[in-house]
Amino acid sequence: MPLQHKDLISIRDLSPDEITLILDTAVSMKEVSTRDIKKVPTLRGKTVINLFFEPSTRTRTSFEIAGKRLSADVVNISASTSSVVKGETLEDTGRNLQAMNPDLLVMRHANPGAPKMLADLLPTPVLNAGDGAHEHPTQALLDAFTIRERKEQLQGLTVTIVGDITHSRVARSNIYLLQKMGARVIVSGPRTMVPLFIEELGVSFIPDIREAVKEADVIMMLRIQMERQHESLFPSIREYARFFGLNRNVLQKAKRDVLIMHPGPVNRGVEISPDILNTPYTIILDQVTNGVAVRMALMYLYIGR
Ligand code: CP
Repeated sequence: MPLQHKDLISIRDLSPDEITLILDTAVSMKEVSTRDIKKVPTLRGKTVINLFFEPSTRTRTSFEIAGKRLSADVVNISASTSSVVKGETLEDTGRNLQAMNPDLLVMRHANPGAPKMLADLLPTPVLNAGDGAHEHPTQALLDAFTIRERKEQLQGLTVTIVGDITHSRVARSNIYLLQKMGARVIVSGPRTMVPLFIEELGVSFIPDIREAVKEADVIMMLRIQMERQHESLFPSIREYARFFGLNRNVLQKAKRDVLIMHPGPVNRGVEISPDILNTPYTIILDQVTNGVAVRMALMYLYIGR
């Protein structure tokens, strides 16, 4: 079954069958990373450009590793070392990169809609690696892969997402994906960080984190997106950690086999207390490992067939 869209801009571009295909493909891709020689010739002769206009550790590195494990030629461009600093527009940047005939563009940008703009402009497939507070579809896919690995399926699970929901592209993509795959989503956090009409997305809003985690099979903690907040939305970091941080007292209210996830980077002691980071509940580094496999699967499905 080929993927219907040229690009991956939003989880809404994918059907449940396509999500399952990506996750199933990532299972075999993960095996490649366990070999002594972590390389297959699948994308030999293909060129992937990683275009990052915002900082990134996990996404950018895992896209680069994913491309290299599939034998693609991977070129990394960051805004600070590109001609964007000389005033070149996004459109001109895109057209100039297109002139070098790449096979895939991976793009992160602070502005929602920037990857969509390039996707509409250029014939090359574009994968959205995070656009402002809009979406981070590949993060949601790797989160789904990680949950499925532990819980076997997404259907019927309850996932509680806690924190800065308003500014989180990770929350938005996960809400879309989890609901498409039959999971129930609860959100929790300060009222000032949760969109007013969040229930219209089909999720439940439970402000008290102790109540919100009670039925959760998975707790996803989010980073406070200071860079996207134009005014202070909570009195102090200390108070945020006290009321909305995940600590042992909160964890006592959750199921014994609950999983704890975080897209990173983690603010230790703010959204999660450090002692929880080292417990068996916490699968944050599994998410990072699986990011490579899922991005290999995406590259294969978008340009390898
Ligand atoms: N999860 C995530 O997007 O992390 P980076 O910002 O480090 O890529």
